[in-house]
Amino acid sequence: MSPLVQTDVTKVSILGKDSIHCGFHLVPYIVQTVLDTLKSSTYVLVTDTVVASFYLKEFEEEFEKALDGKNGVRFLRHVISPGETSKSRQGKADIEDFLLEHKCTRDTVILALGGGVIGDLVGFVAATFMRGVRFCQIPTTLLAMVDSSVGGKTAIDTPHGKNLIGAFWQPEYIFIDAAFLETLPAREFSNGMAEVVKTAAIWNDEEFSALESQSEAVFAAIQTPSKNNAGRIISTRSPEQQLLLHVISASIGVKAHIVTIDERETGLRNLVNFGHTIGHAIEAVLTPTILHGECVSVGMILEAEVARQLGILGQVAVGRLTRALKAYNLPTSLSDSRIATLPAARLLNADRLLSIMAIDKKNSGAEKKVVLLSRIGATYELKATTVADAVIRRSLCEAVTVVAGIPSKSPVVMSTPGSKSISNRALLLAALGKGTCRLKNLLHSDDTQVMMNALIDLNGAKFSWEDGGETLVVEGGGGKLTSPASGKEIYLGNAGTAARFLTTVCVLAQKSASSSTFITGNARMKQRPVGPLVDALRSNGSSLEYAESEGCLPLRIASGGGLKGGRIKLAASVSSQYVSSILLCAPYASQPVELELTGGTVISQPYIDMTLAMMRTFGVHARRHTDSQTGKPLDVYTIPNDAAYTNPSDYAIESDASSATYPLAVAAITGTRCTLKNIGSASLQGDAMFAKSVLEPMGCEVVQTENETTVTGPPVGQLRALGAVDMEPMTDAFLTASVLAAVAALPPKAERELKDGSPKNTTRIFGIANQRVKECNRIRAMIDQLAKFGVQTKELDDGLEIYGRPSCELKRGCSIHCYDDHRVAMAFSVLGTVIDGTILEEKRCVEKTWPNWWDDLENKIGLKVAGVELATSSAQGVPSPVSSAKDSASVVLIGMRGSGKTFVGSLAARSLDFSFVDADAHFEIIHKMGVKEYVHARGWPAFREAETQILKDLLKDHPTGYVISLGGGIVETPESRAALKFYCESGGIVVHIKREIDEVVKYLGEETARPAYGEPVVDVFKRREPWFAECSNYEFVNYTGVLQQADVRANSASEGFVNEVRRFFGHVTGRVPNFAANVVRGERSYFLSLTYPDITPALPHLEELTAAVDAIELRVDLLRAPKEMDARGNYMPPTPYVVEQVASLRQKTTLPIVFTVRTVSQGGMHPDDAEDEAFALYAVGVRLGCEYIDLELGWKEQRIREFVKDKGHSQIIASWHDWSGSMKWDGPVVKDKYAYGSQVGDIVKIVGKALSPEDNFKLRAFVSETRKSANAKPFIAINTGYEGQLSRILNETFSPVTHHLLSVKAAPGQLSFKEIQNALHLMGMLPAKRFYLFGTPIQASPSPTLHNTGFAALGLPHKYDLFETPEVDDKIKQLVKSADFGGASVTIPHKLPIMPLLDELTPEARAIGAVNTVIARVAADGTRRLVGDNTDWIGIRNCVSARLAADAPAPTVGLVIGAGGTSRAAIYALHRLGVQRIYLYNRTRTSAETLAGAFPKDFGIEIVDSVVAFPHDPPTIIVSTVPGAATTSSASKEAVSGGSLLLTSALFQSESGVAVDMAYRPAVTALLSLASEKKGWRIVRGVDVLLEQGYAQFALWTGRQCPRTVVSEKVWEKYNQV
Ligand SMILES: NC(=O)c1ccc[n+]([C@@H]2O[C@H](COP(=O)([O-])OP(=O)(O)OC[C@H]3O[C@@H](n4cnc5c(N)ncnc54)[C@H](O)[C@@H]3O)[C@@H](O)[C@H]2O)c1
Repeated sequence: MSPLVQTDVTKVSILGKDSIHCGFHLVPYIVQTVLDTLKSSTYVLVTDTVVASFYLKEFEEEFEKALDGKNGVRFLRHVISPGETSKSRQGKADIEDFLLEHKCTRDTVILALGGGVIGDLVGFVAATFMRGVRFCQIPTTLLAMVDSSVGGKTAIDTPHGKNLIGAFWQPEYIFIDAAFLETLPAREFSNGMAEVVKTAAIWNDEEFSALESQSEAVFAAIQTPSKNNAGRIISTRSPEQQLLLHVISASIGVKAHIVTIDERETGLRNLVNFGHTIGHAIEAVLTPTILHGECVSVGMILEAEVARQLGILGQVAVGRLTRALKAYNLPTSLSDSRIATLPAARLLNADRLLSIMAIDKKNSGAEKKVVLLSRIGATYELKATTVADAVIRRSLCEAVTVVAGIPSKSPVVMSTPGSKSISNRALLLAALGKGTCRLKNLLHSDDTQVMMNALIDLNGAKFSWEDGGETLVVEGGGGKLTSPASGKEIYLGNAGTAARFLTTVCVLAQKSASSSTFITGNARMKQRPVGPLVDALRSNGSSLEYAESEGCLPLRIASGGGLKGGRIKLAASVSSQYVSSILLCAPYASQPVELELTGGTVISQPYIDMTLAMMRTFGVHARRHTDSQTGKPLDVYTIPNDAAYTNPSDYAIESDASSATYPLAVAAITGTRCTLKNIGSASLQGDAMFAKSVLEPMGCEVVQTENETTVTGPPVGQLRALGAVDMEPMTDAFLTASVLAAVAALPPKAERELKDGSPKNTTRIFGIANQRVKECNRIRAMIDQLAKFGVQTKELDDGLEIYGRPSCELKRGCSIHCYDDHRVAMAFSVLGTVIDGTILEEKRCVEKTWPNWWDDLENKIGLKVAGVELATSSAQGVPSPVSSAKDSASVVLIGMRGSGKTFVGSLAARSLDFSFVDADAHFEIIHKMGVKEYVHARGWPAFREAETQILKDLLKDHPTGYVISLGGGIVETPESRAALKFYCESGGIVVHIKREIDEVVKYLGEETARPAYGEPVVDVFKRREPWFAECSNYEFVNYTGVLQQADVRANSASEGFVNEVRRFFGHVTGRVPNFAANVVRGERSYFLSLTYPDITPALPHLEELTAAVDAIELRVDLLRAPKEMDARGNYMPPTPYVVEQVASLRQKTTLPIVFTVRTVSQGGMHPDDAEDEAFALYAVGVRLGCEYIDLELGWKEQRIREFVKDKGHSQIIASWHDWSGSMKWDGPVVKDKYAYGSQVGDIVKIVGKALSPEDNFKLRAFVSETRKSANAKPFIAINTGYEGQLSRILNETFSPVTHHLLSVKAAPGQLSFKEIQNALHLMGMLPAKRFYLFGTPIQASPSPTLHNTGFAALGLPHKYDLFETPEVDDKIKQLVKSADFGGASVTIPHKLPIMPLLDELTPEARAIGAVNTVIARVAADGTRRLVGDNTDWIGIRNCVSARLAADAPAPTVGLVIGAGGTSRAAIYALHRLGVQRIYLYNRTRTSAETLAGAFPKDFGIEIVDSVVAFPHDPPTIIVSTVPGAATTSSASKEAVSGGSLLLTSALFQSESGVAVDMAYRPAVTALLSLASEKKGWRIVRGVDVLLEQGYAQFALWTGRQCPRTVVSEKVWEKYNQV
């Protein structure tokens, strides 16, 4: 039988058979081929529910049609749950049972329709069913098409690991229908592309080139559904489809070839494991959140870096690979925000990854094997290569250290990376020239890459690589180019230089089959101007048409007309690239070009000079006109047209002069020699002067020829200070100069001596003010980081002074924060060559200009560089930010003028460790006048234009690590709005700062610095609000109205407000996601369901309501706006009301919010048919930075999957509720829901209904089953109803709880936290623990009241007692060993003697040198460890920081009175608060000295002999640790003679501050009563500190927050009774 439908397929051979058939819309073809060639009585198609929903029907219909009338032939179908969980023993058994029940026999043919899961599982069933039956792979994911379906590997997972049980079993056919990819989610498509890129990278350079340049077209092939089976036959196939099919079949071809040679994976087949050695280890930690291909993508880059480190692979190849993977939306480093923001990412340290790698199948023994690339398209060996751990470790570590020493390669001869501007010009000149030119040292950037691709498309030149990618061989086309014949568009991405240069190049192109050339770029490129250039070319007679918006790409450029030449006028005040574009092409004009530059000051003349100079090297001498009278140069150039460029045979691209400073500085500091081959005195780059102007006067010998520079350093330690040096002409080099100056201790040469009395070791660098607004404030950065080495500096208005010290005096082992600034990292690595143990914390920041700096340091200079694992958890136990500032997209703030952007922005920047930029201030720097003045001088339109430019520049120059606050009117122009939207879409964060309009008006009335609107503010507000909303992806509410009613009026700098700024920005940037810690740790967790129509009345009780829970659920469907309180039936709260509710909640708590919109059919009030509204509300939840969104699985799947893509850092609780009781926990529905929920959710929630208590046991059995999967998601599984209460008690994750103060329960059967704890205890799941206070005298201690009240309030069965002993004796030793010992408070005199009993001390306890808290920690394996901690300092810190103005800068000076045990904690607390100078007073000075000696020098402790006069600034924080009776404010005789310390108001010289007295009695001591008389001073009583430290203890013991309100009431009551 022949196919009924004409179909074109491409066949690929594997194992000698043409069994892989590729094409589009193949279903009829597949059915026919199978029926024709695989005769059987039974055909069974197995697929998953997702794939079935798209394609099952078509298969069924085809089979039905084809089998019509054929007796005895059956078609059966079996649909299973999607996802990895199905690939299990049970999954296999289920299919086998199906086959057996349907009496399938040995002749059965099974069709596996689906992704790799289906392919692997069904393939394995086929391999063993009836000892093996025939089967076909019909892969529907890209990964399955190019990888899992090819090669015959089949397998299932077990809880012990993936793919551990399986077989090699070859399918009869593999049908690749690329049209299936049209429904595949984009992320899954990219997942498959990782394999495609990998295969090309190891095997085929040409394929790789096609992939790297055509990503857009590849995506385009699947983005638009092909109608009417387009593509089934070749004549209906679009070029994109053709390309996609080619890409897939080429990739399969390679895999098929390798499999054919090595079917059982004994040698060559190992090559396909490129990227997998490291990738698998990453996957083991991150699965299932991060997909296989994504992990392999990162693995490929890390393994390519391993090869580069070993000197096997060039940076060019690493760069190409990185760009290619990024083009397919794949992550390429572990700091990619998709990875770094995951909680599990904390586990990705080098040690762990190496230990996972140790059990890789490829290894031989302990040695690790990695597939090493030697270039794109080839591997170093035809198998994986053994690599030492140290090498892999360096790749994996984010930090490095340079091992101090003498460069072993000295005298070093090397080149440093090419200059970007020169690379671009050289590439184009060589392509336009005649003959072959070998370009060396080309910088491989996006610009050069797209330029090459475009020149190939224009048939303008041929390119090939030599020396493993180090040399680019250009066969110039002599200026002959033709438009791409197919009419293909030339895509330039966002490569600005290439776009400008190529615009004129396209004018030169001759006609081909097509009469024009179409150049285009990405969305950003489409906003960048080319107008002046196009105008100039048009007026010269060329035809260029804007295809979209005026003035920007895309352009259609007519071919065949050439460049006419003659006089061309060009406006050159915007970009010198327009000028260079015409200059470079001018020799090919019909007439000599006379180019006249107009439009005022010509921008960047040095770049025009660079172009002219390089044209000369390629044989064309352009002439710049001069004024015949004055002899001054004019902006007019004549370019001859009599000859084409003649290519020099070799052209070495000059090094980037700033990069060149580092190896030269290494020679200078280590007393060795270094010659740089590609930079000399002829350089046009300012930084090339560094050797002569900086190194020579420091005592180096410098020999410079035109193109070469050699520096020989003086013997180590003999560098001279520089005196004063103006670095204006070479500002970027000042960092290199600064590190040398740090060790330049010899006086300067006589002529450079400073005559102003400065010390002789001074190096004063000036003329570098612009360095404050580079990647970071570089002047500040150098000062702060040099200080770590003990180097003193002084900041100047336009520079800094550095006082050199002999290197032996500098501190060793410093860890350098690099601010994501390549220059900071490279400069300090120079210092690291002489200072042992210097750590550069962010090694990757060098990637901007010198990605292989660390490799070159090792391989070319001869200094060892080692990977360093930085400690991840901060000592405080607060989670450290999970992604570095470097990798967090900058945050842009927009909103009405007066909405608080600057205020919120600077607070946010501080808490994120970002830099803050105010666009207004930036404007003033750039335009040298304020905004108001500018508007006045130039008018609004000019201002808006300038403002837009500033926005674009800010986004471009500060893509990460900044908070950028924009002017209120920024949204007025479409161009700015487009830029902001594009920023949101490309992963940036734009926050709309919202404040209610009345507040704004009030504020603006008082403020005049910014120009007035000229129209009512309210109108402006109305116009802009929608724009603010559409241009932002988050919303921060800075308004207070609703709070006033609730009597919790927030002033803008209240603690609640500052906490919210910290929470919000930490969360939405992913820097410090605000997730519930107990959920992350997998411990019991709870959320409180708030069931109020308006939550504001609950706010005053919120602390009590939420004590002990981990999150708050806001039931959005239950909210009722004030006027609509009685609304019944179909009601949805208005969005502004929801926003207000969340905002008011946020003022009172930073607990994570679960944002829930429950539908009627799932037990809530949201109408079932209001899907759009539900998703609009969910989006509000994400916009407001709510941590968890409860997303019901009943909505349309596509909608859900779309939404999940945009969830930002919010996590999805995928929920399903069955109220009918028909869902059985042992039935199929719950399985499906669970599998589906696991795919789309971060947490799965399934709620059933218990009809009898037994239903809870079935629920638990289901939960246990899901646990077997290695990477099961957190799971909320409960039954409603009274009968379901047991399930609520046993549930582990986020059990919804109610509280006795709440009037309504969110669901029947809901219990309170307290009730659940009681029940757990009764059921033997929460044993009672005993806690004690060790010390003497302790009878009056409030601690038992504190803890026992807390335990009782939360329903915890524990008990706290006094245990008074004079010493740490045997009784205590017995107690701490008993099984029910939970922990203890420790007070005088046991804080030190207790230590030997403990297994471990926290870093804080160690630093303080005393223990006040013992915790008995029980590990999962039952082992028990006694941990000593100290919460005294936390008590002091919390009390003080609560009383400091929340937005005030950190206090700098403190005073501690007393030198006993408590003062240790006080000193430590002050240090942690940021205090830099701590005065210590004690009656006996020697005790103070002993105490000071116990702390590191950088605590800045200074002993004082009086508390009246201070040697420096007076203190702003005072902590007294002596008994209440030991101080007095009365100068009376008795007091003074009694030895009391006399305190006077002279203590409080500072305008404001905080005074703390640790003494309990009297409640208000002498110190406190004096302080309270002083305006601006706040006081902390001893009991306040006791309570705070007690709360901290309580949390450490129970994992729960202490219920503060009830506890403090009881404690004060008791205190006052005594
Ligand atoms: N045997 C091998 O050599 C080999 C190689 C690589 C990977 N694998 C295995 O492959 C599995 C991963 O395969 P996968 O990435 O294809 O995942 P998958 O099979 O889980 O598919 C991913 C998701 O996409 C859905 N889907 C599939 N096709 C679709 C389509 N056309 N339109 C819309 N949705 C579609 C699926 O239902 C599923 O939810 C893993 O188990 C892995 O171990 C095997």
